[in-house]
Amino acid sequence: MTDIPTRRLVLAGVDGSLSAEHAVRWAALEAARRQVPLLLFHACYVPPTMPYVPVSLPRSYGDAVVEQGRAWLDDAERVAVRAAPTVAVRKDLRTGQAADHLIRESASAGLVVLGSRGLGGFSGMLVGSTAVALAAHGHCPVVVVRGRTPDDPPPETGPVVVGVDGSPDGDAAVEFGFEAAASRGAPLHAVHTWNDLSMSDTWSVAPLGLDYDRIAEDERRMLAERLSGWQHKYPDVRLVQHTIKERPARGLLARAEGAQLIVVGSRGLGGFRGMLVGSTSQALLHHSKCPVAVVRPDRAVLAS
Ligand SMILES: Nc1ncnc2c1ncn2[C@@H]1O[C@H](COP(=O)(O)OP(=O)(O)OP(=O)(O)O)[C@@H](O)[C@H]1O
Ligand SMILES: [Mg+2]
Repeated sequence: MTDIPTRRLVLAGVDGSLSAEHAVRWAALEAARRQVPLLLFHACYVPPTMPYVPVSLPRSYGDAVVEQGRAWLDDAERVAVRAAPTVAVRKDLRTGQAADHLIRESASAGLVVLGSRGLGGFSGMLVGSTAVALAAHGHCPVVVVRGRTPDDPPPETGPVVVGVDGSPDGDAAVEFGFEAAASRGAPLHAVHTWNDLSMSDTWSVAPLGLDYDRIAEDERRMLAERLSGWQHKYPDVRLVQHTIKERPARGLLARAEGAQLIVVGSRGLGGFRGMLVGSTSQALLHHSKCPVAVVRPDRAVLAS
């Protein structure tokens, strides 16, 4: 796909949408922080059967699709260069399905950055299928760039938030969070929620009688233990720890108000075998008001 001789370039998906434009700008700034090249990628979908058009076209539909794709890539390049003039920018255009190409190419990237929406979809849809496919199947961390509304640019100030569920698999997300906070000079808010027991609020006939203070204390200790090694590795990052009795998606969304990035693992402690993106990460991909980084435990390619 590319002649850029590094495994860790930032790969951004371009489809001519405003959301992808925000993603390109975000990706350019991130490539500058990482001091790696930026690869702008567009997949042109040329259907095997051409749509019926009741007039003769000036040139083939396939040629027009490719020409439009090149123009989108040129526009994206201008956005990237304006945002980060020192970053080396490359462009690549392929025919086929975007998700297929992006998943394959994510194996040689350090980060994939996409808009939350594209040109497809329908009004009211919260996140597009390309973005969801990459979060589930990408071979490296994936950032889905979001703002307050689908058309708003993402926030660029505020803390980085990382969701910590206590599973060993979550360490890749924690490391990504520290790295992101360090490179931005931003504080890191580590959020651990510990109430999955919605029944404890609703079981009036058989109250569970749990000692919440004690549970809270245990959870706080667990969070501090999980983070201490990382804090040692990143002594300059100002770490704020939040242990809250709340369900994960709600707790994380609340704490991400005013943040510039929220980082989660692709899977947590729940879910079923074979599930690729847990419900918490899915909820954030649909509802977050800032960019969401989804970090798969086995697939993080970290800048070390
Ligand atoms: N053809 C493409 N080539 C490269 N990147 C793409 C392409 N299509 C989408 N993307 C990337 O994925 C992001 C999200 O678009 P996505 O396709 O998921 O949403 P959508 O078009 O609104 O909905 P859907 O395609 O599911 O109907 C875009 O902002 C862009 O970054
Ligand atoms: Mg699309």
